[in-house]
Amino acid sequence: RGVPRMRMPVRSSTISVAPMLTKLQSDCATPLPVLRHVADSMSADMRAGLAVDGGSDLKMILSYVDSLPTGNEKGLFYALDLGGTNFRVLRVQLGGKEERVIATEFEQVTIPEKLMFGTSEELFDFIASVLANFAQQEGGKFHLPPGRKREIGFTFSFPVKQTSIDSGILMKWTKGFAVSGTAGNDVVACLNEAMDRKGLDMRVSALVNDTVGTLAGARYWDEDVVVAVILGTGTNACYVERMDAIPKMQGKFSPSGRTIVNLEWGAFSKGLPLTVFDRDMDAASINPGEQIFEKAISGMYLGEIARRALLNMAEEGALFGESMPEKLSMPFILVTPHLSAMQQDNTDDLQTVGSILYDVIGAESNLNSRKIVVEVCDTIVKRAGRLAGAGIVGILQKLEEDSTSAFFSKRTVVAMDGGLYERYPQCRQYIKEAVAELLGPETSQNIVIEHSKDGSGIGAALLAATNSQYDQDY
Ligand code: GLC
Repeated sequence: RGVPRMRMPVRSSTISVAPMLTKLQSDCATPLPVLRHVADSMSADMRAGLAVDGGSDLKMILSYVDSLPTGNEKGLFYALDLGGTNFRVLRVQLGGKEERVIATEFEQVTIPEKLMFGTSEELFDFIASVLANFAQQEGGKFHLPPGRKREIGFTFSFPVKQTSIDSGILMKWTKGFAVSGTAGNDVVACLNEAMDRKGLDMRVSALVNDTVGTLAGARYWDEDVVVAVILGTGTNACYVERMDAIPKMQGKFSPSGRTIVNLEWGAFSKGLPLTVFDRDMDAASINPGEQIFEKAISGMYLGEIARRALLNMAEEGALFGESMPEKLSMPFILVTPHLSAMQQDNTDDLQTVGSILYDVIGAESNLNSRKIVVEVCDTIVKRAGRLAGAGIVGILQKLEEDSTSAFFSKRTVVAMDGGLYERYPQCRQYIKEAVAELLGPETSQNIVIEHSKDGSGIGAALLAATNSQYDQDY
């Protein structure tokens, strides 16, 4: 402190690092046969998971959402959204076919990190208190008929074994959550207890995964939506399935003959091109051996994979010269938004890359090392985007194989959301390219991959309306 920082001489290091980069690129490569294998395995795992519970890596969770929003939904509904770095509460006023969404208000808070490692009561008390505060602001603005409770669509984005549309048991936490006492319990009951403790008289009428909320939200505007994918902190997909294509349903009935199935594709693991950095990161994680697809393609992990690759290049290839950047060995110091920001740098001397490297990990860099860093980011996100694209094609292929009509000749929409998709343009591009490579130019023209921004919040509110326990609109 007070003493000027010594500037270490930066040695040009491209010669020894170059083969390391080439090795990383070849370990992460996703040529067509790799993509095809992933897509085919995804379809096969879907079938096996639909046949029996535990039939494959994919849980193929039945959502109990058998009717999608029609546009006729009316009234004031709430939505809660818990699943990543942020927690959101929404109030949505639905006006039916003509007026659609009249108004939305929302509040978003970052989940304090200690709650991710605390007890279930602490987490749900926090949720209930944010909700209580938000609900209070409704004031007397809207009339609530006597005896009627406000209804909530609860988006809870973790693997939940649904037991009905408004109840479900948390199977396990993902995405770095390690809250004690929730797994094995009904998360709606956990929320109800916390609401009771706060004296809050509302009821959950739909418990949904974020993918399911996104599908419902997108379908409200566009009838051709049949698949929804989240690519954010975590990753997952859901789609509309025919009841008679789900052997494990065992005669359960849905008036529409269809239901939404949540793949929990983060747990997929077949045929993925993984590196030593993926394996080391997995081994050091709180859920080793689990969520392998998610660890290779979602936002929570891409920065960390890149950091591990760069650390290796710094140690063994002197990427940043003689000195080791002080913070490069800190797990999760580099995050996916940094990778995206570095890849958007268009300056000749890669200034943004240089300052991110300096600010985040304390690295002195020259143009050569910056170029290598950008290549590393690109390699990791390219693999992620292309594998996500292959996953999408896996779902479409399954639908096509089961279809009696010419599935691929009509317009099909895949609704996508999540921070990685939204804020990493290269990632979006790689997804599109992989889908086009796999399906060919003609077929892929009919597949529309659409951003459904924050669709899961409105979607959950819509499903709360669709599944309202009251018959009367108000
Ligand atoms: C994780 C969760 C899953 C969720 C996804 C995206 O994979 O297990 O339920 O949909 O993240 O948020």
